[in-house]
Amino acid sequence: MNVFRQSEKRVDGLSEKQLTSYRAWLQYQPILNQDYISDIKAQFSKISVADENEIISSCITELSVALKEMVGFTPVVDYQHTHKVGLHLTINKALPEEAYQLNESQKVLRLSGGSSRALLYGTFHLLRLIQRQAQLSDLNITEQPKNPVRMINHWDDMDGSVERGYAGRSFFYEDYQFIQDRQRIQDYARLLSSVGINALTINNVNVHQKETELITDTYLKEVSQTSDIFNQYGITMYLSINYAAPIEIGGLNTADPLDEGVKRFWQDTVANVYQAVPRLGGFLVKADSENRPGPFTYGRNHAEGANMLAEAIKPFGGKVIWRCFVYDCKQDWRDRKTDRARAAYDHFMPLDGQFADNVILQIKNGPMDFQVREPVSPLIGGLAKTNQFLEFQIAQEYLGQQRHLVYLIPQWKEVLEFDTYAKGEGTKVKDVVSGEVFNNKVAGIVAVSNVGRDYNWTGHTFAQLNLYGYGRLIWNPDLTAEEIALEWIEQTFGLNKSVVDAIGAMVMPSWQAYENYTSPLGIGWMVNVNHHYGPNIDGYEYMAWGTYHFADRDGLGVDRTIKSGTGYIGQYHEANSKYYEELESCPDELLLFFHHVPYTYQLKSGKTVIQHIYDTHFKGVEQVEAMIKIWNEVSEHIDEQRHHDVKARLEHQLWSAKEWRDIINTYFYRKSGIADQHNRTIY
Ligand code: GCU
Repeated sequence: MNVFRQSEKRVDGLSEKQLTSYRAWLQYQPILNQDYISDIKAQFSKISVADENEIISSCITELSVALKEMVGFTPVVDYQHTHKVGLHLTINKALPEEAYQLNESQKVLRLSGGSSRALLYGTFHLLRLIQRQAQLSDLNITEQPKNPVRMINHWDDMDGSVERGYAGRSFFYEDYQFIQDRQRIQDYARLLSSVGINALTINNVNVHQKETELITDTYLKEVSQTSDIFNQYGITMYLSINYAAPIEIGGLNTADPLDEGVKRFWQDTVANVYQAVPRLGGFLVKADSENRPGPFTYGRNHAEGANMLAEAIKPFGGKVIWRCFVYDCKQDWRDRKTDRARAAYDHFMPLDGQFADNVILQIKNGPMDFQVREPVSPLIGGLAKTNQFLEFQIAQEYLGQQRHLVYLIPQWKEVLEFDTYAKGEGTKVKDVVSGEVFNNKVAGIVAVSNVGRDYNWTGHTFAQLNLYGYGRLIWNPDLTAEEIALEWIEQTFGLNKSVVDAIGAMVMPSWQAYENYTSPLGIGWMVNVNHHYGPNIDGYEYMAWGTYHFADRDGLGVDRTIKSGTGYIGQYHEANSKYYEELESCPDELLLFFHHVPYTYQLKSGKTVIQHIYDTHFKGVEQVEAMIKIWNEVSEHIDEQRHHDVKARLEHQLWSAKEWRDIINTYFYRKSGIADQHNRTIY
């Protein structure tokens, strides 16, 4: 076993069996096909490298480890770049910075990239092909990421917990200290860069007392060491900051963005931070939301708040990422006019064009909060003069918390393909957030991480697919959910066709299955207070004033129409607002998000709302039963540990799906008094 694999073993004392889970999609399993091995040996006999730096050495390490594991030899590396055969790695400045080209002819493989980071992406592309035993002869590939910034947000706290973390504790911190063994972080960086991630934050957007000190000398040395690890893999690190830091660590009595003392505090702090961490990307800020401090306290708006920080950080090339998840969690909405869904647009749309050019607004994909089904936030396609990032959540906070198998890519694809009509028909979200439509200076996609210290990183082995898929999808939003799943399955579980087909059949319908047995027709929520797991129809903490779904004996749903409701629909461009406003055109799956209708209302599917609720809840449970059956059938082809881990979670999922089914069906049967047409037991 080589050094690299040995250091992997050191991580948290992982056993050999657990290492298979830990390696995720970078398995590098020995290849048995002798013809293929000979081809690879010839193609990789030498690696010639024209440039040298830390990222290129990550390429070489990765290639050496992978080839040793897969085909049993370590290539010779030549920095003089003289060989006529083998793999040639070169930077070609004529290419866009993150683009690469892969060509093969007559046993010479050429990988050229616009930067060393691009070479790393090309390296992982090659390894992906080899893991899937694809032919490399006559290769001719050009790749360039669609989104310039491809980011992960950690919600890790320094006590070692992870907010909405479902995969064990943080691997960055424990007991208010950085964890000294950094091997795990390096392996994480490998996983991220293998799918093209180029930025991340390492602490929670809710910045508590100790984390506020991450920008002080108490922690800057370790912040810098952590940043160095990510930099080796082409990943730029950012920090979440506390807007009230001038008060909490600066000894001031205000955090007013227009106050001279506050400005000076940030200028000095930023200068000190950049001296210690010169390659820091910048700051991420959650302000004026869910009890976090922000500019509203001082009667300032969010452009004033963000621009003050942006000015301080600009001399260092830094950016300020400012979240639009701003709403009053204590609002009273019994009048049925106050609407949390309106909040982000109401706060930020009037400020379009007022933000500095190194500020980026970070917008959750929907107007609420990562529910199983939401419409796309109208801010995306609304904002025309402001840099923006789209925010997804890989952690399945409201989608089964990584105990349920839910493949998220189909959901995200719907978001990316949504037509905003911002510049007429065909202005899709994917082209807005990539910066193409409005020519933004900075653009891209961010997601809340789903990893932790569990030996398989993600709690559920299949939740690895959501991390993998996130990276692949935002690199190329035109990949299909099937293609992405197939790539992951083959690299993670090998090429046995029965296994590949079985896992494909499990993951593809899983989002739909989850939606079936949980909250119906776009209404959302219905989860338990605070931890947000399991059914509780009238639960959810920010509902002191009633319920979100407005269900009574006659009907349910939230009227967000322009004519009689909260007016939220009016935030969309005309084609979409008409589409959602009219019952005739509003799509079934979002009906109750936009309209309040009677239980007997007939859906486009031909069913009544109440019958739809019953049917989908029975069906969802059956879908989970089908997943279990498939998984049991392939047990002999899968290593014991992973098979057992997944099986245990699927069994829990089935229990939980039944709980959802029974609680939802009973509740709506009692409310409506309408029986199931098929006379199934529902209470
Ligand atoms: C959700 C989540 C919180 C999180 C917040 C956010 O409300 O439950 O834990 O802090 O989103 O995105 O800021």
